[in-house]
Amino acid sequence: MPLMEPYRVKVVEPIPILTRAEREAAMARAGYNPFNLRADEITIDLLSDSGTGALSAAQQAGGALGDETYAGSSSWFRFRGVVDELTGYPHIFPVHQGRAAERILFNALLKPGQLCVSNTHFDTTRANVLLAGGTPLDLPCAAAADLDSDHPFKGDIDLDALRAVLAGPESVGVVVMTITNNGGGGQPVSMANLAAVRDLCREHGVPFFLDAARFAENAWLVVQREPGWSDKTPAEVARAAFDLADGAVASLKKDAIAHIGGFLALRDPELAAQCELVLIATEGFRTYGGLAGRDLEMLAQGLTEVVDPRYLAARAAATRYLGDLIKAAGVSIVEPAGIHALYLNAGRLLTHIPPAQYPGHALATELYLAGGIRCAELGTLYLGEEDENGDLVKAAPYELVRLAIPRRVYTQSHLEYVAEVVAEIAKSPEKVPGYRMVSAPPLLRHFNCRVEPVRS
Ligand code: F0G
Repeated sequence: MPLMEPYRVKVVEPIPILTRAEREAAMARAGYNPFNLRADEITIDLLSDSGTGALSAAQQAGGALGDETYAGSSSWFRFRGVVDELTGYPHIFPVHQGRAAERILFNALLKPGQLCVSNTHFDTTRANVLLAGGTPLDLPCAAAADLDSDHPFKGDIDLDALRAVLAGPESVGVVVMTITNNGGGGQPVSMANLAAVRDLCREHGVPFFLDAARFAENAWLVVQREPGWSDKTPAEVARAAFDLADGAVASLKKDAIAHIGGFLALRDPELAAQCELVLIATEGFRTYGGLAGRDLEMLAQGLTEVVDPRYLAARAAATRYLGDLIKAAGVSIVEPAGIHALYLNAGRLLTHIPPAQYPGHALATELYLAGGIRCAELGTLYLGEEDENGDLVKAAPYELVRLAIPRRVYTQSHLEYVAEVVAEIAKSPEKVPGYRMVSAPPLLRHFNCRVEPVRS
């Protein structure tokens, strides 16, 4: 059968289409920061694939059946049953979103000064390690540094480096593998790499956890790319990954195709008891953890839908199709295309803009001005360091722009529209201005800063 989405549209929502003048006014008002735009100013929103998916009819129906009993609701038992079958972990705690699971786990596991080692920490994961007194350490594999190579598993951790850290003088509190590796170009992690991490962690007595926000998309790329796994279902691959680890934190705003939710799941009963106390004190009782019964129903249903191979095949094909159109327009992406997002290489397109004028941010802003597409950079605005005079002392290693694709939301013609806007910009990239900082808070500046174009 030809590849197509294995669902049809039942409910629609109009999308705002503004004139160029209206978009320019909106961006100026927003201080040229896409995080300050309002939904009614955005035509295609590729800021995040988190909590932005479209519900199925079965999820909506489940929501209507949500049982809001304070303790022991039937929606909780349905949710627990699905997560138990998926992961096999005996202790399952619902949380309101992924970062709550991170906070609870790291506070229980990390002693002050201990390392948390990862293929790449997501921002909130890094922040929660630091807040728990730990030190995050990223050890991406060597292949990740070459944005153009089509190595199939650039999300892997560098095993030699991990071995050296585990054998070294510093104490490691936990190893966390992010599947897929969002901070590392959305690249997948191989089962071979996860198995090797498990062996090393076992040898050194260090707990091994997954950050499983995109567990199904990672499983799909394993089925497609890793020898020995092509005859397995995505659910079987996901289960094999969970089997290797001592537990997982998961944001369910991604691969449960729901708007809110997460879990912390683990094997060790003592650690579980410790986490449960904090869960009850800060999130909610152990059978709801900050979620409504209707959320638990929608999450349970979404978790069964997301491992459908036809859904995953169509989603992967859509992202790859957009990537092919963008490349045909002469714009490089981080290769090979993953599933939840494409990462555009703005540094290569906008060679006239120095890192101090934020080429990634310039491209993201231009996508909005030219076509109402919202997205955000992963470059020097986010990762760069400046001295007290505001002069750049350290640029980001790459100037990237992430186009995150919400699940089941946009059609092929929406994606073609995105590619056309990219192509229009790529025809005369020299017209895109750089930006200078106007005001920035001391931390997490990309969320709150205001910048302005540098007109020559
Ligand atoms: N881990 C990964 C790999 C993530 O991508 C995210 C969120 C989290 C943890 C935190 O989960 O938002 O439910 O608290 N990523 C979103 C994104 C925000 O746009 O990539 P959360």
